[in-house]
Amino acid sequence: MLDIKVTLTKNPKTKPADESALGFGRIFTDHMFMMDYELGLGWHNARIVPYGDFSMDPAAMVFHYGQAIFEGCKCYRRADGGLQLFRAGDNLARMTRSAQRMCMPALDEETAMEGLKQLIRIDADWVPHKEGTSLYIRPTMISTDVGLGVHASKKYCFFIILSPVGAYYKEGLKPVSIYVEDEYVRAVRGGVGFTKCAGNYAASILAGDIAEKKGFSQVLWLDGVDQKYIEEVGSMNMMFAYGNKIVTPRLNGSILPGITRDSVLKIARQLGFEAEEARLDVHEIFADAKAGKLTEAFGTGTAAVISPVGVLAMEDERITLGDGGIGPVAQKLYDTLTGIQYGRLEDPYGWITKL
Ligand code: COI
Repeated sequence: MLDIKVTLTKNPKTKPADESALGFGRIFTDHMFMMDYELGLGWHNARIVPYGDFSMDPAAMVFHYGQAIFEGCKCYRRADGGLQLFRAGDNLARMTRSAQRMCMPALDEETAMEGLKQLIRIDADWVPHKEGTSLYIRPTMISTDVGLGVHASKKYCFFIILSPVGAYYKEGLKPVSIYVEDEYVRAVRGGVGFTKCAGNYAASILAGDIAEKKGFSQVLWLDGVDQKYIEEVGSMNMMFAYGNKIVTPRLNGSILPGITRDSVLKIARQLGFEAEEARLDVHEIFADAKAGKLTEAFGTGTAAVISPVGVLAMEDERITLGDGGIGPVAQKLYDTLTGIQYGRLEDPYGWITKL
C-alpha cells in the first residue's frame, strides 16, 4: 500500500445549513484523494489535497478518446453519530473490472480504500445527519497521456470526490414514471454496457432529454439486438414483483452489475421472497401488468436506492402500477437495505465497514 500525503485546506467551505435541500451531487466537501499511474512505475503519488480544479493538457487522451470510468458508493451516519461505508470494496473491485475492458490499469484497491477512509475521516463533518441523506462517494479514473494517436494511454489519474446528498430523484420515495426507449440503444453485445464508463452515460443523455420533455423521469433501455428485452435504467437496475416473486434482467454483459441490485437480491431471498434473474420481454411485462399479475416495479442503485416506478410507457401504451405510493415489496426491501446501511439493522452479510 502506498503512503498517503495529506495537505489540509486553509479555506474550509461553509457546510450546507439545510440538509433537506441537498439534492444530488451539487455540493462537494473540502478535500479529495488523488493518485497517479504511469506504465512502468505503477500507481504513485497518493495524496489528499484541498478540493479544487486541476489543470490538464488539452491533448490529454481522456478528452479525445474517452478512457474514463467511475464508481458510486455511499457513507452513512448512524443514529449514534458514527460513520459507515456500504460495500465500498465491491465498488473498487468493479472499477478494476471496468478498467480491464477499457484497457486501463487495475486500480490499487488497497491504497484507494485507505485513501477513501482517511478522506472521509478528514471531511467527517460533511456527512449529513438527516434521515435519507448520506455522503456520496465518486471514485473516478481518467487517462492523462498527451497525444492524439488512438491507443491506450500510458498515464492515468485516479481521484475520489465526496458530495453530501439527499434523494437522487426529485420525487424522493414517490413513484417515478419511465419511458421505454424503442429507438436508441444503450449497449450492444460485446460492448461496454457492463462497465461504468463515462461514455455509457454520455450516450444515454439524448434519450433521457427527450423522455424528460415528454414528462418522464428516466428511460428504460431495451437490448441492442432484438430491442425487446429489458436491460436497465442507466441510473438503476430494474426489478418487477409478481406478489411474492421478484424478477430482474439477468446479467448478460450489457447491463451494469449493480451492487445495490446484488444486495437487494440477497436481502429478498433472506426475507423469503422468490428472486429470479431472467430474460424479460418488455411486451410480456406490459401484458402481465394489464392482466393484474405484475404488482410492482422498482429500480435499484446506489444513488437511486430503491425507487418505485408508478408509470411505464411504451409508444402509445401506458401502464400504471400501484396507487401512487411505494408498494409493500419495495417498502420491505427498502427498510431492510437502508436499515443495514444506516446501522439500524444488523449486517449479516459483511457489507459494512465502520470508520
Ligand atoms: C450511482 O448510483 O452511483 C450511479 O452512478 C448512477 C448515476 C448517478 C450516474
